[in-house]
Amino acid sequence: MQPWSVRDFHADDLDQVISVWQASRTDSVHPVYTLSEIIRTCSDDLAVVAVVRDEVIGAVTCMIQEDRAWILMLAQASAWRGQGLGSALLAGLERRLADQGIRRISALLPASETRVKAFRNSEYRFEEDLHYFERILPVQPQEMPPLTHLGGRILPRGLWDGLAGMQHEKELIEQRLILPLARPDLANSLGVVPPQAVVLFGPPGTGKTTFAKAVASRLDWPFVEVFPSRLAADPQGLAAALRQTFLDISGLDHVVVFIDEVEEIASARNGERASVLQGVTNELLKIIPAFREQPGGILICATNFIRSLDLAFLRHGRFDYVIPIGAPDAAARAAIWRRYIPGTATEVDIDLLAAASERFSPADIEFAARKTSQNAFEQAVLPCRQEQPEAELSTDAYLTAITETRATVTEATVKEFLEDIERIARI
Ligand SMILES: Nc1ncnc2c1ncn2[C@@H]1O[C@H](COP(=O)(O)OP(=O)(O)O)[C@@H](O)[C@H]1O
Ligand SMILES: [Mg+2]
Repeated sequence: MQPWSVRDFHADDLDQVISVWQASRTDSVHPVYTLSEIIRTCSDDLAVVAVVRDEVIGAVTCMIQEDRAWILMLAQASAWRGQGLGSALLAGLERRLADQGIRRISALLPASETRVKAFRNSEYRFEEDLHYFERILPVQPQEMPPLTHLGGRILPRGLWDGLAGMQHEKELIEQRLILPLARPDLANSLGVVPPQAVVLFGPPGTGKTTFAKAVASRLDWPFVEVFPSRLAADPQGLAAALRQTFLDISGLDHVVVFIDEVEEIASARNGERASVLQGVTNELLKIIPAFREQPGGILICATNFIRSLDLAFLRHGRFDYVIPIGAPDAAARAAIWRRYIPGTATEVDIDLLAAASERFSPADIEFAARKTSQNAFEQAVLPCRQEQPEAELSTDAYLTAITETRATVTEATVKEFLEDIERIARI
């Protein structure tokens, strides 16, 4: 006679079931199910326990979905191992499932779980070639309302890989920002403090906004853009609205906060400036240290006019890095062209386009490439355009689009940018 009896779970068994489960777990084994899921199956689905007098010595719980049951937990007290208790629990469970007309029983266990004898002894088939994939969405349910209120969102994965060329900037941002933020424990143990506020500067269209979003996408953190121009319409005034926005942001565990064209609210103090704006700059100067006190967030500010910023604003201790994002070099331009030219246009001489588009920003290249595509499309669909030779996706068609596109970055901007790097950049 077995010394135990197997019976249905009763609500007052719960504490003991949890203790048995916790005592039977191996810490190094990644659990597939959480404690709250297991508790829920006890009350909502099916659980069976093995008891000796009033003491629970083992339990099995399952979740029932249509005609399948998923075993979430099979646990037994260590003193009772090796005596067939696991198999007895499974048998008790199976009998009850069969009564409900359920024939298919599955169990998902970590590969490192060694306590699988009960399954093997009870004729469960082992599927060697199944893999388990899991992804935890980065936002907690309670973070969703504040995030929506802030106009924030989770960006799609893959934005980082969509950034073509810009190898040098990508490496820098990956090493200085992404890796320390993604692995704060390792960074801290080596004395690297993950950055909490950075400025990206450079001519328009070079990818500052795109980089900020790509950082959020890479980290899998929500992205919140703060629009000073919109906050200005707030009846409390811009400074108070900015303060409130950052207060709301502090409720998020992880966040990439982005302020574009930051020079609008943080440009150098000068006599003519309206005192309202000075108040806003001062507010921002107070907000940044407070933001820095809370780990798990990064503030990215972008500007096309770094030299117009208040120097106090850029001070050490406020921003960890002041990173230049310049117009792409020839190799980067080639990569960006490649990104925007359809794979079917195999004959296009990309190196020639890269050479012909000097000082083009990524945005200029995108514009010229899309224009060429639009022309080709119109030629294909509009019969009256079919005789126009430049409208196909040929090298010539792209070169025509290049001559019709004015590079945003002028020689003068390049010169200023190089001076700014010399004087202001901090990487
Ligand atoms: N490295 C890149 N590869 C591909 N497209 C890019 C790249 N950088 C920028 N772009 C494109 O150029 C456009 C302008 O970029 P954006 O980030 O807004 O520039 P900025 O913020 O510096 O003015 C966007 O449409 C973006 O998709
Ligand atoms: Mg931008």
